[in-house]
Amino acid sequence: MQAMQIRKLTPRFGAEIIGVDLSKPISDQLFREIEAVFNDNGVVLFRGQHLTEDQHIDFSKRFGPLEIHVRKDALMKHRPEVFVVSNVYEDGKPIGSVDAGQFWHTDLSYKKIPSRGSLLLAREVPMRDGKALGDTLFCSTIAAFEGLPRDLQQKLESLSATHHYEKGYNRDRPSGKRKPLTPEQMAALPDVVHPIVRKHPFTGKPCLFVNEGYVTEIVGMPRDESEALLDRLFKHCLKDEFIYRHNWRVGDLLMWDNCSTQHNAAGNYEPTMRRRMDRTTLTGTAVA
Ligand code: SIN
Repeated sequence: MQAMQIRKLTPRFGAEIIGVDLSKPISDQLFREIEAVFNDNGVVLFRGQHLTEDQHIDFSKRFGPLEIHVRKDALMKHRPEVFVVSNVYEDGKPIGSVDAGQFWHTDLSYKKIPSRGSLLLAREVPMRDGKALGDTLFCSTIAAFEGLPRDLQQKLESLSATHHYEKGYNRDRPSGKRKPLTPEQMAALPDVVHPIVRKHPFTGKPCLFVNEGYVTEIVGMPRDESEALLDRLFKHCLKDEFIYRHNWRVGDLLMWDNCSTQHNAAGNYEPTMRRRMDRTTLTGTAVA
């Protein structure tokens, strides 16, 4: 029987689970404990997990069905459940998405049913002078909501925002312009509208569900007012007290909740330094 210990990553959110080897059988009881830590903390870290691709997929599936990302070019061959985030090239082609996620976003917020969470496994981490680079930053959207003045919280509770995949896909990025989305990809990803204050599907806590990467406007608000309010909210989320910065080690399995957190890959490494991460993405439930 594996027994787990928990270490908080920040005072407000995030936890490391120590003493669990995810390549070994996980009993239903242990899984329920892990899931509870995940729901309560938003970000969960397991160090030293040298998992095969199938072990990564199998552990992820304990949380429910997995998403197959619309970017087929970044999916692992023969295992489409794995979205590869990597600047590694093989036979002249990138093996995954070269600079994915280098902006504040939540994965798949642009879908009618946004993702529940993501599990990123570090396989190669860029290093300089013994220090790991390529950090990922997280913001607690629960803490960010709690940190707003009460009158603004109340105003936001009646508002919704439009999310669109193309905004994040087409933004300027170090590797240059991406190929335009195909008509099929565009058709699969129409604009979606979600409440700005979203009730967490498992804990019921209010989460500030707007992210700079995919949110284009507040529904029914004049454009300049919408831009000013969104800008205020995006900046608010970046306060130190809401942030956890993860410094990766090979074998880290880091999972995050796509309702109670946002994230941003810092990209603080050079293109010649190899970085390879494998991501599985959990299907979510309808937004309440
Ligand atoms: C992502 O946004 O899923 C990628 C995060 C990272 O590569 O650090």
